[in-house]
Amino acid sequence: MNQYVIHGGHPLFGEITVSGAKNAAVAIIPAALLVDGVCRIENVPQISDVTLFFSILEELGAKVRVLNRHAVELDCRSIHSTKPSYELARRIRASYYLVGALLGRFGEATVAMPGGCNFGVRPIDLHVKGFRAMGAEVTEGGFIEAVAKDGRLKGANIYMDQVSVGATMNVMMAAVLADGVTTIDNAAKEPHIVDLANFLNSMGADIKGAGTDSIKIRGVEKLTGGTYCIIPDQIEAGTYMAAVAATGGQLLIKNVIPKHMECISSKLQEMGVSIEEHDDALLVRRSEPLQRTNVKTLPYPGFPTDMQPQITVVLALAEGTSIVTEGVWDNRFKYVGELKRLGAQIQVDGRVAVVEGVGRLEGAPIQACDLRAGAALVIAGLAAHGTTTLGSVQYIERGYEDMVGKLRAVGADIEMVDLPEPEKQEQTVS
Ligand code: EPZ
Repeated sequence: MNQYVIHGGHPLFGEITVSGAKNAAVAIIPAALLVDGVCRIENVPQISDVTLFFSILEELGAKVRVLNRHAVELDCRSIHSTKPSYELARRIRASYYLVGALLGRFGEATVAMPGGCNFGVRPIDLHVKGFRAMGAEVTEGGFIEAVAKDGRLKGANIYMDQVSVGATMNVMMAAVLADGVTTIDNAAKEPHIVDLANFLNSMGADIKGAGTDSIKIRGVEKLTGGTYCIIPDQIEAGTYMAAVAATGGQLLIKNVIPKHMECISSKLQEMGVSIEEHDDALLVRRSEPLQRTNVKTLPYPGFPTDMQPQITVVLALAEGTSIVTEGVWDNRFKYVGELKRLGAQIQVDGRVAVVEGVGRLEGAPIQACDLRAGAALVIAGLAAHGTTTLGSVQYIERGYEDMVGKLRAVGADIEMVDLPEPEKQEQTVS
């Protein structure tokens, strides 16, 4: 199994270019199923979740033409099935977007219940509530089966009991070809929500208010195709900002939208990290000892939950005691047990972690347990003195394009090796 071997303790210096946003791409690619035409999509990240979606769309009858590393042409004019294969669809969480897209275009969809990271219960009741409000009959089991009663969804007013990225995007997709107007209140406002709305509008949809907590979608007869460029990945950028904060040094993080980074930049600045904003780049520098602070993850524009493991690693190296509160997921501290193998002093109680900063971490063999935790453990290995081997790196490759290459280019001593998997260590979180 592939592992990363990291010889840590060195500061990072250089430039890193951020790829297209994973959580925008894994919504925009299935959304192409709504388009009765050709979509040219640029700035697509080269990650395994994206290539998996290309296989799913091809299986449904789409023509997928990879134009280069970061651009693809999707032609969904000849879709012949609304039932993606169980084996492929169940492998990623974002497969639930196939329901909204297929139901919206064809009035029916049968999709395997999603897989993905397991940090607590990941229900889809709000997605189902939205589809039912628009006139679909939905049954859940190993599959999600949805059928529009009269063959076409009808516009509806939907209130989201809690802010949900997936439910907001899924209902938006289902609504663009519905008969009438749909409103989504208490909608999520993440940058990738706006990106999906902009993609759909560039294909002929009529969506207003994305990025606010109230989105209005006026159903149209068909989407005809066009060209769209995906936004840069806020979380990938934040991950590399956390890396240089942890190791010390200076990185120019290129291809960012500074506005999207504000919540992350301000938190790192509280810790003594210097951040200089350029038009589409951030110059991030850390030379002084890190200062403690508190973090609570919240829906955008709050501090993103997908940056919680990464910022916790930085806090583990800061002077003093910090409190990290996970405001979105029930159990997103599973990685702490692995972090403690490197010498971190962290006590977890449900959604709260108390982090006692330590002067330094020491390398050790550890395992990734999900995508962002894996990225955080890479950061810990880069900061730790000595050698860290990180297993289960396939999680990381789902959401980060060429992390090893990007880090090596700025001085990190990290390489991917194919080693026999160490015996499974019990992951303990105290
Ligand atoms: C998306 O997951 C992201 N995944 C997650 O990123 C991210 O952590 C999350 O949004 C929050 O920003 C993708 O975009 C593929 P939610 P999603 O619906 O849509 C509850 C990563 O690292 N909820 O916003 O599944 C849910 O339990 C991944 O890139 C319901 O109760 O998240 C959670 O507590 C990990 N019912 C909260 O809402 C529902 O029907 C937010 O979930 C849906 C969600």
